[in-house]
Amino acid sequence: MTAQAQPRRDTAPLTVFSPAKINLYLRIVGKRPDGYHELETLMLPLDFGDEITLQPLDGELRLECDNPSLPTDDSNLALRAAKLLGEDCGGKRGAKIALTKRTPLAAGLGGGSSNAAAVLLGLNNLWGLDADDATLHRLAARLGSDVNFFLGGGAALCRGRGEQIEPAPCKLSASVLLVNPGFGISTKWAYESWAKAAAVSRPTTAPPEVSRLLRALAKDDLATVSQCLFNSLEAPSIRKFPVLELIKESMRNDGASGAMMSGSGATVFGLFADARAAESSAKKVREEFGPSMWTKVTRFVSTVHRQPETRALVK
Ligand code: C5P
Repeated sequence: MTAQAQPRRDTAPLTVFSPAKINLYLRIVGKRPDGYHELETLMLPLDFGDEITLQPLDGELRLECDNPSLPTDDSNLALRAAKLLGEDCGGKRGAKIALTKRTPLAAGLGGGSSNAAAVLLGLNNLWGLDADDATLHRLAARLGSDVNFFLGGGAALCRGRGEQIEPAPCKLSASVLLVNPGFGISTKWAYESWAKAAAVSRPTTAPPEVSRLLRALAKDDLATVSQCLFNSLEAPSIRKFPVLELIKESMRNDGASGAMMSGSGATVFGLFADARAAESSAKKVREEFGPSMWTKVTRFVSTVHRQPETRALVK
């Protein structure tokens, strides 16, 4: 951070895009002494997500959200990110944070982590802090395991708790159908359930090699990408919520080259070579499984354009 940090002169609101993600691969390598799990996970940002508008406010941090189910108190990661950045830059600063929530909650799509990263990036700009990447990454790691990934803005192979990110060249052009069954899964529950199952039985098949997935992503080889999809957290969630497997099956029957649960769920995704097939599979899922199904067809975005003007240019 520079010594002469200045807030932006104009007080016009700043709108920041906050993308969702999917995990094409999530392998739990083992349990860590700090209680977290050691991961090897490949995440992709999507051209779909939330929008956050930031405005200067005298000495107060206030979060508003259009979705009343989401708490706007200190338990919200977006507000915690704002507080942490304010404290770290050594002054009490204020902002009004208006969150337009499109991503389902507790969905395995990284919504909260993405909002936190967007707030760090946006307030760094709004408050004229000029905090460098290393500072933002240090704060991100304190907020949650996936926040660092969202600071990166592209596909990445993530290790450690998930906070050690390595950019991954990715040319995946497939359409991505997201299906959320209308209930959330707690991340903590998902990891604990995996640990309980792992304590009593060893997996019978070896997970695919992540290096094979990385090569396939770099070549936009959808067939191989689909063969390499993997998620250690999927089996316990499907045992508790068998509808997740049925949704995957429905997407596969309707042309998905591969389907998998994202992160700690409950969203499942299908990869389709053809966008129209993805849309018609979405319609079928809604008909087959009822109105609680939330669906969205989107795609991988190679570079996250945070500001609306730049997003409009790449569309
Ligand atoms: O880091 P984050 O707050 O997103 O994690 C939520 C919960 O998920 C943690 O409290 C922990 O129970 C579990 N988790 C884990 N190992 C990870 C990431 C998350 O056990 N690598």
